[in-house]
Amino acid sequence: VKVKQVYRTAFHFQPKQHWINDPNAPMYYKGLYHFFCQYNPKGAVWGNIVWAHSVSTDMINWISLKPALVPSKWFDKYGCWSGSATILPGEKPVILYTGVIKEKPEPGYQVQNYAIPANYSDPYLQEWVKPDNNPILKPVQVNISSFRDPSTAWYNNGHWKMLVGSRHYSRGIAYLYRSKDFVRWTRARHPFNEKLGTGMWECPDFYPLSSQGQRNGLDASASGTKYVFKVSLDETRNECYMIGEYDLVQDRFHPDNTSGWTAGLRYDYGNFYASKTFFDPIKKRRILWGWANESSTKDEDVAKGWAGIQLIPRMVWLDPSGKQLLQWPIRELETLRGKKKNLKNVKLNKGDIMEIKGITAAQADVDVTFTFSSFSKVEPYDKKWEKFSPQDLCGINGATVQGGLGPFGILALASKNLEEYTPVFFRIFKTHDKNYKVLMCSDATPSSTNPNEYKPSFGGFVDMDLTNKTLCLRSLIDHSVVESFGEGGKTVITSRVYPELAVYGDAHLHVFNNGSETITVERLNAWSINAPIMN
Ligand code: FRU
Repeated sequence: VKVKQVYRTAFHFQPKQHWINDPNAPMYYKGLYHFFCQYNPKGAVWGNIVWAHSVSTDMINWISLKPALVPSKWFDKYGCWSGSATILPGEKPVILYTGVIKEKPEPGYQVQNYAIPANYSDPYLQEWVKPDNNPILKPVQVNISSFRDPSTAWYNNGHWKMLVGSRHYSRGIAYLYRSKDFVRWTRARHPFNEKLGTGMWECPDFYPLSSQGQRNGLDASASGTKYVFKVSLDETRNECYMIGEYDLVQDRFHPDNTSGWTAGLRYDYGNFYASKTFFDPIKKRRILWGWANESSTKDEDVAKGWAGIQLIPRMVWLDPSGKQLLQWPIRELETLRGKKKNLKNVKLNKGDIMEIKGITAAQADVDVTFTFSSFSKVEPYDKKWEKFSPQDLCGINGATVQGGLGPFGILALASKNLEEYTPVFFRIFKTHDKNYKVLMCSDATPSSTNPNEYKPSFGGFVDMDLTNKTLCLRSLIDHSVVESFGEGGKTVITSRVYPELAVYGDAHLHVFNNGSETITVERLNAWSINAPIMN
């Protein structure tokens, strides 16, 4: 099919063609970063799942290799589904993954398998062996079609431990398994964590954190001051992460009061799913990978011949408050920065829109610091909003809805006459107990003149101290994706958008203010982003 490929991204991870979903088994081995993901070698829709495999020295430029795992044995005949890597002592990587052995019951009968490199001296790890003693786990006394996505394993008290996602009716469960030899695994009596009414838990992830404000990451088996537990919720198609304590005796996770289920913490309040982290032993950091699917129709996916991207890898660490994580695009991305535009101390009065010219607005990195001088015009936070999610609030309070302190931010992927634009902005409110509430929105509603696209308005609160009257925003804009980091990575929102007019050279970038309080762009840096080698 000949289709104009205006929506292909330039610097986000994509294969040449076809469908991708979950990131799998990211790891570092002998000088290379390895990345695998769920891939359909036959088309732009989900199916025929194998593990695509690419390698990189910087996680930005990628070379694709042949698929690492393809259905070839009775224990993965109908699909090699998601899994993770663990580096065993002596620098021996091993992959744990889900094999689908029967098509029924839907979505398939699931077991857990392992695979090891055929040749440890090959830094590309091109050949993987699936030993004959697979599967290592059959679904005994668990839901046979809801039993998948083994985590990276960690070691303590003489055992390897790992998690498998599952459910019991509506109860989401992460089962914990223990092993001495990585081959014979036994399930712990208690689930690692569970929650009624949350449905199937996919892609569980668990890792230790360094102390508050420390940016360095820890190996999966290191002991942390706090731990992160994350699950992807199949029913609501979003993720939830929690910060808490790891009970080493019972092998259970207990979220903190401030960062548990009710806190509703997400890595990303937009299009982001099936994420997975790994420890980078070279730069001593923890890296987060997440998948963003298309928000267009199946027909459009088929017509363009591809679907799904991986977001820019993010470094994650514990916020100084101890209550949430911070995330930031890996530094290596900055090597792609080209032409730069810089602004300082520009005032934006009510209704002002200012274009940032001179960079490739469809393929850009923009970093802005906004300031204001008074809270006098801040709007009250409506009591009836308390039952609304931030996403609902962004739906009500779009970029064009006049405010007091905000909305202010950027208009990404804007067409010449603003028939299309993706606003990413902040809005500040004052609550009854005299606290400020910062709402961050990434709103696809005005992003495209195509009525058939899914154009959600995503939102998240930014838990921050406003005493400096300063707010920062960084957005990575790449043709059909806008990935935005509020206040140094406290709140992150990704939108997929499909403009019809704001494409290539016809895309524009602006800063704007629609609040009655004047906003100052204290500093703005925007760069054209060059295309890396992409598979
Ligand atoms: C999550 C998921 C996993 C599964 C894989 C199949 O997106 O459904 O639970 O292993 O995708 O491709």
